[in-house]
Amino acid sequence: MKVAVLGGTGKMGRALASRLAESNSVIIGSRDPARAREAAKGIPGASGADYAEASRTADVVVVAVPDSAVATIAPLAKHLSGKLVVSVVNPLRSEGGILYFGRKAGSAAEELAELLPESRVSTAFNNIPAGFLLKDEVVPIDVLVAADSKETYEETAKLVREIKNLRPLYAGPLSQAAIVETITALVLNLASLNGTGSLATRFVSRKG
Ligand SMILES: NC(=O)c1ccc[n+]([C@@H]2O[C@H](COP(=O)([O-])OP(=O)(O)OC[C@H]3O[C@@H](n4cnc5c(N)ncnc54)[C@H](OP(=O)(O)O)[C@@H]3O)[C@@H](O)[C@H]2O)c1
Repeated sequence: MKVAVLGGTGKMGRALASRLAESNSVIIGSRDPARAREAAKGIPGASGADYAEASRTADVVVVAVPDSAVATIAPLAKHLSGKLVVSVVNPLRSEGGILYFGRKAGSAAEELAELLPESRVSTAFNNIPAGFLLKDEVVPIDVLVAADSKETYEETAKLVREIKNLRPLYAGPLSQAAIVETITALVLNLASLNGTGSLATRFVSRKG
């Protein structure tokens, strides 16, 4: 499968791209195609392109841009029509050393879904700091996925499972994306306030 990562030159985009390249043909998307090609050099089998070309060529598109840049994805709607679009975007703001959810209403994923009415939009990978993906072996992590249909969830879950030790968990419709995105603020605050080192989400279950 061809997977484009928009914002693939960034910390999270690059980390996800290198993991997804283990089982897909990855296209790094950047506003600057030269920067995309440069970033792709470090990832076996990956290529680089501008956002339009990366979106047009890909079967699945991951959006790993800052929250402030979500609106810039709108012109890509025609290229993304009929495709799975996975947001990893976290709207965060910092106040007095504490991180808060950065939007007054809605979520980054819902904004993307509004901008891309003919795409299947989900949110996933939000709560995994990039560093976890860069280790030789990724530790077991639960990846919370919000999506409006079970089909879109399943498509996203398949992508999540391609990275060894990641377990997708369905968090409900996209109206739950704000909760998933907010958990990132919690996870980062927990790590910094308790000196635990980097944290990611993992849930325990009680069977029986
Ligand atoms: N870092 C993490 O550990 C992590 C984990 C989970 C989720 N996330 C989420 O993933 C997204 C990217 O985070 P990141 O840490 O990878 O950020 P980053 O290192 O700053 O990278 C963001 C990339 O987005 C692209 N971009 C597009 N429009 C932009 C704009 N207007 N301003 C700045 N960059 C723009 C840039 O690529 P070009 O300049 O090449 O176009 C840049 O390389 C964020 O929404 C973040 O919340 C991050």
